[in-house]
Amino acid sequence: MEAGSFADVPQDLRKEIEQLETLFTVDTTKLKQITDHFVKELEKGLSVEGGSIPMNPTWVMSFPSGYETGTYLALDMGGTNLRVCQITLTEQKSEFDIIQSKYRMPEELKTGEADELWEYIADCLMQFLHNHHGDISKMEKLPLGFTFSYPATQNYVDEGVLQRWTKGFDIAGVEGHNVVPMFEAALARRGVPIKLSALINDTTGTLIASAYTDNKMKIGCIFGTGCNAAYMEDCGSIPKLAHLNLPPETPMAINCEWGAFDNEHKVLPRTPYDVIIDKDSPRPGQQAFEKMIAGLYLGEVFRLVMVDLHDNRETHIFPGQDVSKLRKAYTLDSSFLSAIEEDPFENLSETFDLFQSKLGIQPSGPELELIRRTAELIGTRAARLSACGVSAISIKKGYKTCHVGADGSVFNKYPHFKARGAQALREILDWPEKQDPGEDDPIEILAAEDGSGVGAALIAALTLERVKAGNMHGILHPENFR
Ligand code: BGC
Repeated sequence: MEAGSFADVPQDLRKEIEQLETLFTVDTTKLKQITDHFVKELEKGLSVEGGSIPMNPTWVMSFPSGYETGTYLALDMGGTNLRVCQITLTEQKSEFDIIQSKYRMPEELKTGEADELWEYIADCLMQFLHNHHGDISKMEKLPLGFTFSYPATQNYVDEGVLQRWTKGFDIAGVEGHNVVPMFEAALARRGVPIKLSALINDTTGTLIASAYTDNKMKIGCIFGTGCNAAYMEDCGSIPKLAHLNLPPETPMAINCEWGAFDNEHKVLPRTPYDVIIDKDSPRPGQQAFEKMIAGLYLGEVFRLVMVDLHDNRETHIFPGQDVSKLRKAYTLDSSFLSAIEEDPFENLSETFDLFQSKLGIQPSGPELELIRRTAELIGTRAARLSACGVSAISIKKGYKTCHVGADGSVFNKYPHFKARGAQALREILDWPEKQDPGEDDPIEILAAEDGSGVGAALIAALTLERVKAGNMHGILHPENFR
């Protein structure tokens, strides 16, 4: 249920809520304006000159048929966890078996030394193989799909030059370098019997895994700690690859890296809070779109609003209370906002408990109303802006109907995210109102198959199939290929 009415909220707080509404609401006209600009930026990213959206070719050059087979390892280096999977693609169409282990990604690794990162990853892989295969010294090398979900330039499917760290990572000596040799050296030091077949972005994995079981899937998205999308382009529409003379009709999965959309700050309705987030981040000026949408930042936007309204002498929320915990950056994650939005009680008692336990603050009734509305505004803005990216790809590709596979904590767990995104798509793409509530939308964002597990295995399988078939584009250097 929605929070109670604002009838009991005093005048000054009501004014504050109205101001927040103005700051955070993205109306239909603005959504359309953002989408128009987005379409142009997608084109620009594919051009020779390039733009701020990288539009990285991934050398994933086909959708799966559903008949791929074999056993593969998949490693997912996400923002929060490290996951190792062993996937067997079975003889039965679109079926697979999976075993997996999750390892915590220690916070200090994200800003530590490069060697520590690769050693930690290699240790986890070794432990996984020991647990599931026993003595690894006699094992044949298994092919691995490595899901490395950061912007990377790929001239081949099994390399990735890190363009820049995102999602709060800040490890020196990796940006500008191919991460594969660093990773392989750590494996070699331990004698881990693994052969990296493909380096994969989580969005590409999501696209391929979703298309494995649903052939209407045209776009793969992640709305999690970070945010991004991938789709299939025709090689003939990628001017920056024209020099390779690839057959124009051949498909190429593009990892958009749309988190970088509008780094120039031309259209996004940034608030003073977004400006602070950017300024205080390890990479100011980067990932403008992502910083307004992704799970890593939602709680921080909310925290900055609360601190501002406390410090602001006119409103001065939480008067006389100790707000020292609230002052700590990144102390609230998006699950805190989810919990506020999910509070089922009219008096918002769960929100009160949450503030008390997490922050040592006891909000008044009207303050609780303000808190709830702020969470709704931030969550709604994220969902509506996300729809601009999905619409832009659909417009660029001329997709009137399709499925979009989405994964990530915000998509899967944030309340109303899907419905708010669907509503925004309707507004942007001018769909008529539904006649029947059960009717499907022309473009639907649906929960994806496991991209960084099954998707990574499929991409490894598709790459090995290509090698067998002698289509070495993006696997061998073009000079050797011709
Ligand atoms: C990264 C992308 C990734 C996305 C979702 C972003 O920060 O740059 O490569 O796909 O997060 O994980």
